[in-house]
Amino acid sequence: MVNLNGKLNKINIAVFISGRGSNLKSIIKHSLKKTSIYNVKLVLSDKRKAKGLGIAKKKDIKSYVTNFTNSRKLSNRVLLKLKKNNIKLICLAGFMKIIPEYFIRAYDGKIINIHPSLLPKYKGLNTHKRVMLNKEKFTGCTVHYVSKQLDSGEIILQKKIIIRKDDTPKSIEKKVLKLEHKLYPISIKKVLANL
Ligand code: GRF
Repeated sequence: MVNLNGKLNKINIAVFISGRGSNLKSIIKHSLKKTSIYNVKLVLSDKRKAKGLGIAKKKDIKSYVTNFTNSRKLSNRVLLKLKKNNIKLICLAGFMKIIPEYFIRAYDGKIINIHPSLLPKYKGLNTHKRVMLNKEKFTGCTVHYVSKQLDSGEIILQKKIIIRKDDTPKSIEKKVLKLEHKLYPISIKKVLANL
């Protein structure tokens, strides 16, 4: 939507992280493009020392550290904060906490996640190691809606790469992460266009 100054009114999103924040960085980068339809308004971390918090700070994005899934009271506080900031979509990017069911209900169809495998294959942790052990020919990443079952919500988009003979879990991780940085911003755009 265009405002009275002829500028695009961007949609506010929040990104939840627990660590490095390379996906956060790529989402912010895309959000700053003139043609982007979204704005990273809030970064939430369950870890005070998450490296990604430094990325938010550098870009003057509000951040919030909370261990929210431990109690309903804390979760409600987060929901209030999201509401106050007019957050329309929550993007989990390396967020290691399980989102409680009532929180998912409160943001129904508006929480998405990125996972480093071609879901429904390889849900959970250590995906690259398991993919290599099973001698898969392909791997990749998936952006999906968050549902009450881990890594099981409806798939939004996927990207695939070929596994080469000399690949290792480390080299695959590097290649897939590069892919994630492309896939997540496109997926956000797709989801927001359908809101
Ligand atoms: C990514 O591989 C993502 O798919 C997974 O956790 C990792 C987070 O990396 N869910 P980063 O913090 O975005 O660098």
